[in-house]
Amino acid sequence: MFKVHLPLQMALGECPLWDAERQRLYWIDIRAAQLHRFDPASEAHGVVALDESIGCIALHAEGGFVAALRSGLWRLDAHGRKLQRLAANPEDQATGRFNDGRCDGAGRLWAGTMDEAERTPCGHLYCYHAGRLVAMKANVTVSNGLAFSPDGRYLYHADSPRRVIERHRFDVASGELGPAERWISLDDCNLAGFPDGAAVDSAGHYWCALYAGGGVARFTPDGRLADLHRLPVPNPTMIAFGDRDLRTLYVTTARQGLEETALARAPLSGALFSMRVEVPGLEEPRYRET
Ligand code: BGC
Ligand code: CA
Repeated sequence: MFKVHLPLQMALGECPLWDAERQRLYWIDIRAAQLHRFDPASEAHGVVALDESIGCIALHAEGGFVAALRSGLWRLDAHGRKLQRLAANPEDQATGRFNDGRCDGAGRLWAGTMDEAERTPCGHLYCYHAGRLVAMKANVTVSNGLAFSPDGRYLYHADSPRRVIERHRFDVASGELGPAERWISLDDCNLAGFPDGAAVDSAGHYWCALYAGGGVARFTPDGRLADLHRLPVPNPTMIAFGDRDLRTLYVTTARQGLEETALARAPLSGALFSMRVEVPGLEEPRYRET
């Protein structure tokens, strides 16, 4: 059962990220351009305002973050201050922005883009490493659901409006990506909503937030629905495993797009939720230059 971890009212809470070294949870509010942190030991919650919208964050091996901001990929310090722009956003910043992303096991950053109107497939899934930003997948409307199998042999990715999660063979040593394979279809599983952010546990289960579907679905490594955990809000956005044993599942949620009546029915929209689980998650890989 999910419980309210912090009763926030985030417009678009996203990208929960557990820092195992500091034992802290980080996440963002894309629309409010904020970086949040929470220390479970002291229960202290902090928020930093950024000067532009942010799509995702990953930990940097040498401290701080790599972040996909509207203007491009940036290195941020531990307080969210810009240190250096790593790559410009190659797309139209007026209509699109970076969205979901994370690092692979070799320390490359993968981050996708989206059409903010969620209509045109003008986005891409990019891979950034050591000064090079390469488009690995085109024709994406809302890039989401990025994750890797624990053995690094598969990359998972969803273009949310299609309600399908694709799987690609992946070579973590070379960074090479195989063709897309249809892996999970929300239609076939009778699930409502859209595949949003995901996390893979140490047994290879793919946990996926169902945006507009009011729950988090867990899928087996062969793509079958294992269970569905409901939330009291319609828009969960992404998942992270955290705490010392990596057995607390944190979920961010969003208020955006909900009418007054929907908000009255789901007043906890925008909160951070958590739930204890049996199978631990995996430590999140950090961005590494070499
Ligand atoms: C995006 C939102 C979008 C949602 C559902 C999120 O990852 O950041 O802008 O509304 O997915 O498609
Ligand atoms: Ca997302």
